[in-house]
Parts: sequence; C-alpha cells; structure tokens
Amino acid sequence: MDEYAAARASLVRLLRSEITDERTLEAIATVPRERFVPEPLRPNAYENRPLPIGQDQTISQPLMVALMIQAMQLRGDEHVLEVGTGSGYQAALLSRLANDVVTVERVPQFVESARRRLADLGYSNVRVEIAEGGLGRPEDGPYDAISVTAGAPQVPQQLVDQLAMNGRMVIPVGGRRVQQLVRATKSDRGLTAERLGECRFVPLIADDGGWPEHMDSHNGARAIG
Ligand SMILES: C[S@@+](CC[C@H](N)C(=O)[O-])C[C@H]1O[C@@H](n2cnc3c(N)ncnc32)[C@H](O)[C@@H]1O
Repeated sequence: MDEYAAARASLVRLLRSEITDERTLEAIATVPRERFVPEPLRPNAYENRPLPIGQDQTISQPLMVALMIQAMQLRGDEHVLEVGTGSGYQAALLSRLANDVVTVERVPQFVESARRRLADLGYSNVRVEIAEGGLGRPEDGPYDAISVTAGAPQVPQQLVDQLAMNGRMVIPVGGRRVQQLVRATKSDRGLTAERLGECRFVPLIADDGGWPEHMDSHNGARAIG
C-alpha cells in the first residue's frame, strides 16, 4: 500500500454517492492524484476540491472529473480527445478507460510537465500536444468522445466537426464563470444536447468558439472545474 492509498479509497467511497459507473470509480481508485498536484499540496490531493496548479489554472474537483468521465460512456475501445490537459490527471484517468487519448493544452509549461508525469507513471497511450490556433486537434480525429475541461460560451462547431458519428462531447457551456455541464451527442439527425448540472470552470481560451484571453485576471480563483 502506498502512503495515499487510504485517502484515495476514502475519496472513492465519497464519490460513490453520485457516481455509478464502476469503471470510472476504478480508475480514480488507481491513478495517483498526488502526482498531479504541486508538491506542497500533496497532502490535499484527495480532498474533493479543485487545487491550483499555477498560471491561474486548476486541477479540477474529483467529483466534477468523475461526472465528466462517466458522461462520456466509455467502454474501452475509444479514441478520445481532451481539450485542456492542465496537470494531466484527467488524461491519465481517460487513458485507463479508452483505447487511446490525445490531449491538447495551450500553456507550454503544462504540456511539458504533463508529458513528463504521464511518461514517468507509464501511461503510454496518451499523447500530449500543444494547442495551436484552432480548437482541438482535427488532424488526429474523428474522436469517439471529447472532454473539454474549460468553459465555452457555446458548444464549439470546430469540436463538433471532430466528433465521430454517435460520438459524445462533454463540455461546460455558459458564462465566463458559471456554466452548465453539457453532453452533446452527434447522430445522423444532428446534435442532441443534455444538461447535466451547474459547474464552474476556467474559461476555454480561443479566438473562435472560446473566450478572449484577457477579460479579467481572476478567473481561476473561483473555478471548481
Ligand atoms: C480546469 S484546467 C484542466 C484540468 C485538467 N483536465 C487536469 O486534469 O488537470 C483547464 C485547462 O484548459 C486549458 N485551456 C484553456 N483554453 C484552452 C484551449 N483553447 N486549448 C487547450 N487548452 C486550453 C487551460 O490552460 C487549463 O490548463
């Protein structure tokens, strides 16, 4: 048993009251969240809250991460895109639940640190890429499921275009500070959107489909996502 095993198990027990997907719970029971937070915050790694990771950004609240992943309805054979790598924690969870994961991040320091962490921990089916210009990574699509871990003003068409038929995108949509978690499913009849509850994420920064970078300087402070 590692020194965080009891705290990790206790977090999983807490999440069980809201999360029913056993595979999602199993992944959370396995991935060492303490390795994805700044070292001084390791003792707090299994509290059910977001933690700062630098650059005004957060590693999301475990319950929110679990709700997003559960909503993606992964069986194990999917090609997945995550937009917003941050620490790499959610990508690590997704890598245990899907065939392979491409994760994109706009902050170069996060790309470097997430690559290093994921490699050190042996998550070999995840590729971390720098976000360039447009949203997502069309050259590696289409994706069976997309997780967007920053809030957008609407479901971005650029990401809908990267979704495979019957693919699911889970994304916070709404205002710059408060959003609804939405699952958008693509079918031959178009896009169906389901609201999964209120959430607070840092803004998705993009010229097209996101928010401008400089609107205010304290977006990270109240984010729970
Ligand atoms: C809440 S954090 C992500 C948490 C992350 N999933 C984790 O497990 O640590 C949101 C991330 O989205 C990134 N981001 C914002 N806009 C982006 C964009 N257009 N493309 C890629 N990443 C973006 C931010 O830099 C930030 O690292």
